[in-house]
Amino acid sequence: MRLQTIAILAASLLAGGALTGAVAQAAGMADVIKARHGNFEKMGKAMKAIMGELKRPNPSLAVIRPNAQVLNTRAQLVANGFPKGSGPESGLKTEALATIWQKPAEFDKSRSQLVTATGALVQAAAGGDIARIKAAQANVGAACKGCHDQFRQKD
Ligand code: HEC
Repeated sequence: MRLQTIAILAASLLAGGALTGAVAQAAGMADVIKARHGNFEKMGKAMKAIMGELKRPNPSLAVIRPNAQVLNTRAQLVANGFPKGSGPESGLKTEALATIWQKPAEFDKSRSQLVTATGALVQAAAGGDIARIKAAQANVGAACKGCHDQFRQKD
C-alpha cells in the first residue's frame, strides 16, 4: 500500500515535470516566433522606406543607406529564427511552412541569397548610383519573394 502510494506520487511528479517542460518549451517557442516576426517586420519597413525613396525624383541616400544596412543586418538574423519545433507543429500562430524543416538546404540557400542581395544593396547604396541601387533593390525584393513563395503560407 505504502509502496503503491509512493509509486503513484512518483508517477504524478514525473507527469507534472514533463508538463512543466512542455509549457516552458511552448513559451520559449512563442518568444522565438515573436522575435522572428519582429525581425521580418523591421525588414518590411526598411524595404518600404527604400522603395518609397526610389520613387522620388531625387532619392535621398541618407534614407536609403541606413535602411539598406538594416536589411543586411536583419537578413543575417533570419538564420536564428527557425529552430526545430517553431513551425506549425508548435500550435502557435505562424505562417512558416513545415517545408522549412523538410528542405533545410533549400531554405538555407534562400536565406543566404537574402544576405548576399542585401550586402550588394549596401554596397550600391554606398556607391550612390541610383540605377545600381534600383537594380540591387529589385534583387532583394526577388530574394524576399523567392523564399515567401516556397516557405511561407499564402494568405
Ligand atoms: C529565407 C526565407 C525568407 C526570406 C529570404 C524572407 N522571408 Fe519574410 N518570412 C519568411 C517566413 C517563413 C515568414 C513567416 C514567419 C512566421 O509567420 O512565423 C515570413 C514572414 C514575413 C513577414 C510577416 C511577419 C509577421 O509579423 O507575420 C514580413 C513582413 C516579411 N516576411 C518580410 C520580408 C522581407 C521584406 C524580406 C526581404 C527583405 C523577407 N521577408 C525575406 C521567410 C523569409
